[in-house]
Amino acid sequence: MAVTTAVRSRPHERHDPWWLEPLIIVAVLGGFGVYAFIVSALNANYYADPYLSPFYSPCLTTGCVHPTLPIIGSWYNLSPAFLIVGSPLLFRVTCYYYRRSYYRAFFWSPPACTIPDARATYAGETRFPFVLQNLHRYALYLAIPILAILWWDALDAFSFQGRFGVGLGSVVMLANVVLLSGYTFGCHAARYLVGGYLDSFHRASLRFRLWSWASTLNAHHARWAWVSLFSVMLTDLYIRLVAMGVIVDPRWIP
Ligand code: FES
Repeated sequence: MAVTTAVRSRPHERHDPWWLEPLIIVAVLGGFGVYAFIVSALNANYYADPYLSPFYSPCLTTGCVHPTLPIIGSWYNLSPAFLIVGSPLLFRVTCYYYRRSYYRAFFWSPPACTIPDARATYAGETRFPFVLQNLHRYALYLAIPILAILWWDALDAFSFQGRFGVGLGSVVMLANVVLLSGYTFGCHAARYLVGGYLDSFHRASLRFRLWSWASTLNAHHARWAWVSLFSVMLTDLYIRLVAMGVIVDPRWIP
């Protein structure tokens, strides 16, 4: 409330509902955070053969009910999801687009164009902790292996006890990983990585093609960011409902 009062008390000339966008972002990001924490803490109903929730992939503990990478022994009693969330969370939190969104929505810094910043002084991202946002390119390096594992899970979702088949869950998991790929490879750091750092594309036709492709994705990065966020949540929800027996997964197995 103190922040709201501080913003209102400073003059601006906007009479449109500029507060609507930050409000929606608080609701969506806050809602996703609550959902992610609850399903991670539950440590149940994340696997409905052959579907695995993205919140639990890859599982690193021996306590999982599906094939695992048993790096952590039985002494670890918490949910394996807590071990996995770090990489995707760091990638999203340091994303240039999300930064813009949550700085506006949660910190009111500034809440909208031409609306004064709620903070008295503005230091950008030059001081701790915001200077850590510069780790984003390293977060990309962590996110790519996780994405590769999610692709493996999505392809595995077409195998029903060793037989090829297609279920609604297979399609849901495939769509989710396609959207996550669009988000990941449209990242500004990915665009730089595949060729953006070059001064010239002369004799670098492959890099030029990759850079062009990343640039096309990058042009709609905000859209990929939101759609892939929803798809992760909906994929988990679908698998969870199948695992709980609330819905039946329609399947075609020739
Ligand atoms: S800028 Fe958004 S994921 Fe890198």
